[in-house]
Amino acid sequence: MKIKEALGLENFSLEAEVLLVYSLKHENIKTQEQITKTFLYTNPNFKLSAKAEKKFKKLIEKRATGVPIAYLIYSKEFFGLDFYVDKNVLIPRPETEMLAEEGLKFLELGIRNQELGKTINILDLGAGSGNIVISIAKNIKKTIIHNSSFIIHFHASDISPQALKTAQKNAEKHKVKISFIKSDLFKNLPQIKFDLIIANLPYLDPNWISKQLEFEPKDALDGGRDGLKIIEEFLQQAKNHLNKKSTLLLEIDPGQVKKIKKLVKKYLPRKKLSIIKDLSQLDRIVKIN
Ligand SMILES: C[S@@+](CC[C@H](N)C(=O)[O-])C[C@H]1O[C@@H](n2cnc3c(N)ncnc32)[C@H](O)[C@@H]1O
Repeated sequence: MKIKEALGLENFSLEAEVLLVYSLKHENIKTQEQITKTFLYTNPNFKLSAKAEKKFKKLIEKRATGVPIAYLIYSKEFFGLDFYVDKNVLIPRPETEMLAEEGLKFLELGIRNQELGKTINILDLGAGSGNIVISIAKNIKKTIIHNSSFIIHFHASDISPQALKTAQKNAEKHKVKISFIKSDLFKNLPQIKFDLIIANLPYLDPNWISKQLEFEPKDALDGGRDGLKIIEEFLQQAKNHLNKKSTLLLEIDPGQVKKIKKLVKKYLPRKKLSIIKDLSQLDRIVKIN
């Protein structure tokens, strides 16, 4: 099979391109050139090896059953970085980039205005692939950390040991130092006050989990009744890990605002809450400080 024939196999040619590049890259194709999308279009008559052809066809078959492309190529871009992903972790979503963005803003402002202590503790609770905390660690390095005497300690936790392994792999890939802890919410976490806690916990009611999400880990999605059971436990436990200046950033479903407000009033009555909208103008991030 030639490249031009392979690309004609699928209607969704964008996806076919991605799967073909992946198949060629991982089957030791003998060429001096790098295997990229450009390679496909500049070498339409390049003949696939039997192994690459078999691999490509298998991937197309799996994709046809609904397996997300990120799980087929073990990769997803988030905040401009490439993350390793597998079936043990939720595939990072574009709207979650706002959590990384808000986390960075908090740190940069806090450090610039000398509002934070010299050692800053940041926790990504329910870290999954590590996409949020790694994006922050990677980007904060580039900006202020070189010129300051602040020490930022990054912590990442998850209830799933498999997810933590994936996150660790990503931290190594991106060369950032993070302490990983397996923990059910705050149970095994160090008894310290965190300056910033970011949590994209499961927030879907089990009835909202559509067939489209069936390939992703249920424990990463199912937030219990109203999608708020885990978040309520989180807010209840959080007070012991916060000081006056600490900030919490949570991702939610836009329909949960009213209930979240009630929960914050109940468990963190001294803190103020604000809502940040996503790019579709939907209420997406809860900031508690
Ligand atoms: C919605 S996913 C988010 C993953 C990643 N942070 C992201 O934004 O893409 C929720 C994560 O929380 C973890 N989780 C679920 N229940 C938890 C609990 N009780 N304590 C800690 N982590 C939990 C899941 O294993 C999953 O990795």
